[in-house]
Amino acid sequence: MNPKDFVAQQTEEIRNTVGNNTALVALSGGVDSSAVAALAHKAIGDQLLALFIDDGLMREGEGEMVAAAFAELGISVEVIDRAADFFATLAGITDPEEKRQAFRDTFYNTLGTAVRDSGASFLLQGTIAADVIETQRGVKTQHNILEQIGLDPGTYGLQILEPLRELFKPEVRQVAAELGLPEAISQRMPFPGPGLATRVVGEVTPQRVATVRAATVIVEEELSDLQPFQGFAVLLNDRATGLDEAGGRAFGQIIAVRSVESEDAMTASVTELHWDRLRRLQERICTEVSGVTKVLYDLTPKPPSTIEYI
Ligand code: XMP
Repeated sequence: MNPKDFVAQQTEEIRNTVGNNTALVALSGGVDSSAVAALAHKAIGDQLLALFIDDGLMREGEGEMVAAAFAELGISVEVIDRAADFFATLAGITDPEEKRQAFRDTFYNTLGTAVRDSGASFLLQGTIAADVIETQRGVKTQHNILEQIGLDPGTYGLQILEPLRELFKPEVRQVAAELGLPEAISQRMPFPGPGLATRVVGEVTPQRVATVRAATVIVEEELSDLQPFQGFAVLLNDRATGLDEAGGRAFGQIIAVRSVESEDAMTASVTELHWDRLRRLQERICTEVSGVTKVLYDLTPKPPSTIEYI
């Protein structure tokens, strides 16, 4: 794939398909949806509405980062806060695929409403090749493969465009760079659609998400010079006895740190971290994230594990 040719071909195709209509793209802060948004803006300019649905499951400062990066490119992003809706549908759910289903239902209801309100006829999605393959294999239902999960886009009154569906992540990064997106986005680690809901084992509550979000900031900071394929924190659904600040017994939270190297997310090896770095991760997470009494480092490659915990 030549990024220049790809951009030229796809902008032409998007322009021809959308015609005089309008299209909507939901940004997540990840490289896939960002590349699609930049591509579509290049193709159809102000006929594109870029939306950021704040689902309450994003990393720290994600919405602000995205809006600022796109403002630099002259693309305005509308942010809508729907965190309460997402937490309401996720309440009480602990099964991984039920979580994805709940997320997906709320996501598409929110998006469907936004599309109807905007009058857009097309929805652009950042589906990439790995999403398609994993969903076909039945490993996971990725929320963005509509037809394969039996969702009829017509129900939502729109047509779907997936210009990146043939590309793997490294190629998407090249396309993003070609489109002028900053490295903070083009080199950003993959982050799943259901966000921090995939990094909380057990029930997803605002408080549990806040815990994993705070630990994620630390993991990203401490691993930033290594630039792993993905490095993140996970809140486990178990507890461990430790000591609280006053030296008393605390039956606290357990954070697992995971860092993996991969080309395309289909297989992954574990990042070999030095002891000093592991110790720093443990010290910072236990000190800075309230209620955490234990930090673990995950040694399992993919396969047999998947990259995410749910
Ligand atoms: P797994 O965990 O299947 O992850 O090894 C492979 C890649 O996919 C991401 N991932 C998801 N992306 N919705 C998404 O959009 C999901 O439900 C989902 N689950 C996993 C994961 O972060 C990794 O990059």
